[in-house]
This record gives sequence, C-alpha cells and structure tokens, in this order.
Amino acid sequence: MILVIGGAGYIGSHLVKELVKTNEVVVLDNLSTGHRWAIDEKAVFVEGNLGNEKDLESVFTNHKIDAVMHFAANSLVGESVTDPLKYYQNNVAATLTLLQTMMKHNVKKFIFSSTAATYGIPSVDIITEDTATNPINPYGRSKLMIEQILADFASAYDMEYVVLRYFNAAGAYETAEIGECHDPETHLVPIILQHLLGERENISVFGSDYDTADGTCIRDYIHVTDLANAHISALQALLDGSKKTATYNLGNGLGYSVKEVIETCEKVTGKKANVVMADRRAGDPARLVASSDKIHAELGWKAQISLEKIIASAWNWHQNSAKVTN
Ligand code: UFG
Repeated sequence: MILVIGGAGYIGSHLVKELVKTNEVVVLDNLSTGHRWAIDEKAVFVEGNLGNEKDLESVFTNHKIDAVMHFAANSLVGESVTDPLKYYQNNVAATLTLLQTMMKHNVKKFIFSSTAATYGIPSVDIITEDTATNPINPYGRSKLMIEQILADFASAYDMEYVVLRYFNAAGAYETAEIGECHDPETHLVPIILQHLLGERENISVFGSDYDTADGTCIRDYIHVTDLANAHISALQALLDGSKKTATYNLGNGLGYSVKEVIETCEKVTGKKANVVMADRRAGDPARLVASSDKIHAELGWKAQISLEKIIASAWNWHQNSAKVTN
C-alpha cells in the first residue's frame, strides 16, 4: 500500500490517478486546499492532518504502508513572506511529525515534493541539481530544510528517499476530470485561461523590464502528468532497491517567457487576451529553467508534453471544470 499525503491537491490527485492503475493507494488529506472530487475512487481516502500524530497513527496502524509520497504543503511564495509561521509549521514541523511516525512504524521509503524555489536566483541559465541552493523566501527554505533533514535521516536511520524539485507544473488530466483548481488562483496558465473564458477582465504581466529577450520572466512549464510519471519512476526505483537516495529536477528543459505563454494560450484557444503591464511581483527570479538530464540518465524519465499540449489540456479542463466542481 502506498500512502499519498496531499492526494486531493493539484499534483497529488494527478499522481493518484496514475498510481491506482498498478498499486493500492491510501490518501491522507485535510482538504484545506485539495478537493474530495479530485481523489480517484479506487484510492482509500482518510481525512486528516499530517501534523496530527493521532491521524497518522491510525493510517499507519490500519494499513501496511510500503512507501510514502508527500505532496501536502503550502506553496505560495508571497504568502510565505508575510506568514512564515504557517510555512514552517505546515511544511517543516508537520513533515517532521510524519517522518517520526514513519520511523516508528519502520516505513523508510519516502518521495518528497520539493521545488525550484530551493535554488533562489540561480547564477546559471540551465539549473542542474548541483547548482547552489540559496532560497530567497520562507517557502523555498521550508522545502530545503526538509531536504536536509532527509539527508540526515538517511545517514542516521537508513531512510531512503527521492527528492523531486518541480519547476512550473501546469496542464490537466487527459479526460479533463481533474485539473488545477486553486482559490485564490495565482498561477499564470490558469489565470490566462480564466481570462480567455471571460472570468477575469484582463491579465497583468508582472514586470516587463527583466533581463530577458522580451523583458518578461522565463519559466520551465511541465505537464502535471509528466510530473506524475516521474513520481512513479522514482517510487519504482525505491521499491526495487535500485536507488537509496536521490534528488532530481523535474522540468522540460525549455524556457518560455510570460509573453510567450500568453501568445501560446491565444493560439490554442483562438481568443485574444487583454494584457496589462504591471510592476514586478516580489521574489520572482528572471529565469528558472531546469536540466532534467540526471533523472533521464538514472531512471529513464523525460518530460514528453509540449507547452501547446499543456495549455490545450488545461483549456479542456477549464471549460469542463464548472461541471466537476459544482
Ligand atoms: N505571472 C504574471 N501574471 C500573473 C501570474 C503570474 O505575470 O497573473 C508571472 C509571474 O510573475 C512569473 C510567471 O508568471 O514570472 C509564473 O508565475 P506562477 O505564479 O505561475 O509560477 P511561479 O514561477 O511564481 O511559481 C512556481 C510554483 C511555486 C514555486 C516557484 C519556484 O508555483 O510553488 O515556481 O520559483 F515556488
């Protein structure tokens, strides 16, 4: 049985859809940002908190857990700056309670959702796992702290883990049954598509004076199903013993500017966006693009889905989402 913490959230629910095809799955989620409708019905669902020892105890006692995949976290950079306590409480302290419970029940295989935010403002164009980690906000620091704790637990307690540093997750499940659904929404792709559906008046571009070709920020967009498949490969490597510890970037290796993403959305939808230039958003690095060569070399995983297809899948979801969420 695989325990997926945060399996009702955006990335967790897409992973669960793939994982239930070959594994028994139990999802623990407090539904604070995730959705009950997003959890595949083949998974067992337990409503509870990962920082609550009683909730964890009952999951680990009632199910024989072989590995834990941990997606449950707060992940808004801006909010982490104004409310760091929430981030250190939910992302660090609660995760420590989870790790402690795992140790108690002798469950030692762990897959951890980390982030490009651990790199801060990188000094290189293409980020490898060896690029220095200098997070510039509490969100990035909270994720890096857990990475460091995992390394110490591996040395001291034989913990086995894979850390996956996501770049910009986007897109939706191929059937449009589930997709990105945050409240409030802050991410670029859903904001553009909501605008093109008439749900927002315009799109603000946060900064057009960056040191990039068109002056807007460059990001590496990766389809959420590509992300899910990377987790399946990582889980397989832990379960068959071919990996004991590893850290991998997950991206497409291609950078797109905010303007290019808007243009691609216009192309895919055939609609014209009303774009407003705005000030820079605090904490945004100009460029974040991943090398995912390491996971390709070691686990054979590679992102398959292009930006156009990412946006097309998200567009299907946004057109369908009212039916699912109401
Ligand atoms: N942007 C706009 N207008 C908007 C929304 C976003 O111009 O309305 C810009 C942002 O300034 C940024 C780019 O679009 O340049 C992408 O922004 P997102 O909010 O979609 O994504 P981020 O790159 O800020 O965040 C992602 C993850 C975080 C992670 C971070 C690492 O969502 O969890 O990458 O830097 F921390």
